[in-house]
Amino acid sequence: MEHRPFAGRHVPVVGMGTSKTFDVPHVDADRQRIVDTALDAGATFVDSSPMYGNAERILGATLGPRRAEAIVATKVWTPDDELAERQIDASLGFFGGHVEVFQVHNLVAWRTRLDQLEARRDRGQLDIVAATHWQSSAFGELEDVMRTGRVAAIQVPYNPHERAVEPRILPLAQDLGIGVIVMRPFAAGGLVGQVPSATQLAPLAPFGVTIWAQALLKYGLSHPATAVSIPATTQPERMAQNAAAGDGPSFGPEEKALVERLAA
Ligand SMILES: NC(=O)c1ccc[n+]([C@@H]2O[C@H](COP(=O)([O-])OP(=O)(O)OC[C@H]3O[C@@H](n4cnc5c(N)ncnc54)[C@H](OP(=O)(O)O)[C@@H]3O)[C@@H](O)[C@H]2O)c1
Repeated sequence: MEHRPFAGRHVPVVGMGTSKTFDVPHVDADRQRIVDTALDAGATFVDSSPMYGNAERILGATLGPRRAEAIVATKVWTPDDELAERQIDASLGFFGGHVEVFQVHNLVAWRTRLDQLEARRDRGQLDIVAATHWQSSAFGELEDVMRTGRVAAIQVPYNPHERAVEPRILPLAQDLGIGVIVMRPFAAGGLVGQVPSATQLAPLAPFGVTIWAQALLKYGLSHPATAVSIPATTQPERMAQNAAAGDGPSFGPEEKALVERLAA
């Protein structure tokens, strides 16, 4: 698994998201196997949010005694300042009292949320303050947040169907040394419905890519600004496939163009 610089540390290029996939009432065998598979494969960067129902609780429980192996990224997501403090407390509780990356979800009340997260960072409860948004209409505001110098990382969508971060957000992140987490590498599943043939994917074999999902993950990771991609799955064997996209060299312009054509 390749590692890249990210906000003053190094992170594996493939991790795991938990939106929808971990919103289950109780830990079950599949969720446990997904997390164990991710950790065993070195895909240790795991992302969650209070927006995802039970996901934080289930993720924390499945990490269990292996919590220290993970780099946990979660979020605060509410317009209410007091509820935000309670959300942060709850998240810390799910992950053993400390969270590595704490993000302002969808930039909701971001000025106050940054104040709150910075205060928690000063108390040693979290390491990295970050911000996320998934909609291109909010990218102007995200640029404003990035220019404050208060966030060390951002989380944005990037895949062949969602390239709005290319002109400004990714270059700005590079200029400012801000770490980039790639969300929605499969466009929330929209890109994995139709799978190109083995013949069509053959030119990507020298890059360690054997299946379409890996081509999509490597696509996002082949931009020089990106550090880690966080695909979500309900299937343990797919977690292993996704983690394997963290091996092998990055794509060049020709391979990225091929993936764009195959995704069209
Ligand atoms: N901050 C934000 O606003 C925001 C917004 C969206 C997402 N996120 C984060 O980013 C993460 C990823 O985004 P996402 O969950 O929306 O979508 P995604 O990772 O782009 O796609 C997930 C879908 O891909 C399928 N999949 C996963 N691995 C596969 C494989 N190897 N082969 C074929 N299909 C595969 C999954 O189906 P199966 O379950 O059947 O495998 C699932 O339906 C989220 O979980 C969340 O942590 C953040």
